[in-house]
Amino acid sequence: MHTLKIIDLCVSVDGKQILNKLNLVINSGEIHAIMGPNGTGKSTLSKVIMGDSNYKIMSGHIYFDDKEINDMAVDERARLGIFLGMQMPMEIEGVSNADFLRTALHNKNSEFKLYDFIKKMNSTVADLSMDKEMIHRGINQGFSGGERKKNEILQMYMLEPNTVLLDEIDSGLDVDSLRIVGEAVMNYYNHVKPGILLITHYQRLLDYIKPDFVHIMMGGSIVKSGDFSLVDLIEKYGYDLNKLGISTSVVEEIGSNE
Ligand SMILES: Nc1ncnc2c1ncn2[C@@H]1O[C@H](COP(=O)(O)OP(=O)(O)OP(=O)(O)O)[C@@H](O)[C@H]1O
Ligand SMILES: [Mg+2]
Repeated sequence: MHTLKIIDLCVSVDGKQILNKLNLVINSGEIHAIMGPNGTGKSTLSKVIMGDSNYKIMSGHIYFDDKEINDMAVDERARLGIFLGMQMPMEIEGVSNADFLRTALHNKNSEFKLYDFIKKMNSTVADLSMDKEMIHRGINQGFSGGERKKNEILQMYMLEPNTVLLDEIDSGLDVDSLRIVGEAVMNYYNHVKPGILLITHYQRLLDYIKPDFVHIMMGGSIVKSGDFSLVDLIEKYGYDLNKLGISTSVVEEIGSNE
């Protein structure tokens, strides 16, 4: 059982404040969805949790199992079991997918077995309907948008994180790939029971991966939390504060702090 706890987090990038007193707690076995307008800080939140040094924590805390990780490096966070599937996964030339995963797992686990690794990688690639040769290509090199998203899920399967952040894992996927990825994430969830934070704009992903909690993020902060019914309201009304039952003062207060 693990807990990721974010308390009053304020974050800036290039001197501009993006997150504003954000609070969120994710326990193992819980699926949280964050929805919110473009540019409100969702990806920023995911990158700050992962430890991207471009983002500066102005105040507040990130705890993993009651240990503050504000200043911890990305690879240390990965070793704790935190994983980020990025909105826009980058190409990394010169390191193949297979080499990257093998090295990462070897570093994490002294009882690493090459045979088991290859077997699991091949079966996961097949489950995700990925082309077999992709594992020997440079990370995301020449991958299409959808292929990159599947590659993030392959990494998740192989690294076996206990805390999974998926930033718009559905964007760029065709309808069949969306189902494959949705089912793969649920399958992983059922086996490992990680804490999951899904960032998405649309209900269609959440039809496969049912969140226990839905949060609306605006102005760098979570302004409302609820159950799946919030997703229906957003689909119907967009981010209309009145219709979503969000007091304007909450959002105004955030705006005035920026
Ligand atoms: N390096 C940077 N320099 C300046 N502004 C930045 C930088 N990185 C992010 N921002 C700004 O921070 C804000 C939040 O960006 P972020 O990517 O977190 O939004 P988001 O909620 O994920 O949006 P989307 O739904 O479009 O993915 C945006 O206004 C963005 O332009
Ligand atoms: Mg984003």
